[in-house]
Amino acid sequence: MPYAKIIGSGGYLPPRVVTNDELAAELATRQIETSDTWITERTGIRQRHIAETGVTTSQLATKAAQQALQDAGVSATELDLIIVATSTPDFIFPSVACMVQAQLGNHGAAAFDVQAVCSGFVYALSTADAFIRAGRARTALVIGAEVFSGILDWNDRSTCVLFGDGAGAVVLRASEEPGIIETDLSADGSQMKILHAAGNVVGGQVTGDPFLRMDGQAVFKLAVTSLAASAHAVCERAGISLEDIDWMVPHQANVRIINFLGRRLGLSDDKVVITVDHHANTSAASVPLALDAARRDGRIKQGDLVLMQGVGGGFTWGSVLARM
Ligand code: ACO
Repeated sequence: MPYAKIIGSGGYLPPRVVTNDELAAELATRQIETSDTWITERTGIRQRHIAETGVTTSQLATKAAQQALQDAGVSATELDLIIVATSTPDFIFPSVACMVQAQLGNHGAAAFDVQAVCSGFVYALSTADAFIRAGRARTALVIGAEVFSGILDWNDRSTCVLFGDGAGAVVLRASEEPGIIETDLSADGSQMKILHAAGNVVGGQVTGDPFLRMDGQAVFKLAVTSLAASAHAVCERAGISLEDIDWMVPHQANVRIINFLGRRLGLSDDKVVITVDHHANTSAASVPLALDAARRDGRIKQGDLVLMQGVGGGFTWGSVLARM
């Protein structure tokens, strides 16, 4: 059975950077009080990238995909599977994956979206791994992309300071050499209300509340316990000790969640990739953006054992253990 090996990665962040001070000043014009100190101490976030009005998820996704294909030395025509993880698609349909396919100039690959919110990339990567292992695909593009700024209530300081926009992508290829070694996916729909955007379109009108709502403390607790359990599960199934992991690339929601998790797993800080300070929480894009950043700056090298972890709305969570 072939492995699915990551042979390239890419990332794209919209050029507009909004620092905490800039965001605080903007919110102050509407009598909403926040500060760089509050945001930094509670979350580790210092800035976020925000897409200009009209810029869509498929546009960010295509840019990240082009960089990943270039990094892999693969032409778009070679792809036989395209999966996009997103909760902020351009349209109800077609999928973002089909729009990316058209923009890349690929014809005929299977293309679809995966909706698992901030766990979306890990879900999509596990799905592509299953296709490749089963011999149903040879060269796959997996993208996490979001324009979360569009579903934020900018009058709700407890959520709007946390998120940013962006896209990250990887190219996978069937290989005899180890690539993705083991995956672990879970969900608990009974916890859906702790993090949701519960609006929809009926008769051409938005009904319900289309903005992201969150019980921050409940999310914090569940994120730490579920990710710790998933890390143990994926390592146990792979017959690998947590000590053997070279890099952890966790979902970038909050530096305190990441630090808690690292300590609970006994991983030293210098093995954990952190980008939340610069990117904020980009939901499904956060793990591939962090992976790409650490590959490009030389931290993650060929042969390294990497644990990627996602957690988010649904409630969903999961892990992918991969040899680079
Ligand atoms: N600026 C200033 N004050 C604020 C802000 C803000 N942006 N947001 C909330 N506050 C205030 C609250 O109103 C509250 O004031 P009060 O004491 O007068 O009532 C006070 O700060 C404390 O609020 P809490 O919600 O209790 O703050 P907490 O310490 O729990 O921190 C946070 C909030 C950062 C959201 C935390 O709960 C957390 O990290 N949760 C994890 C959730 C997360 O990271 N979600 C990301 C999306 S989910 C995911 O990706 C998995």
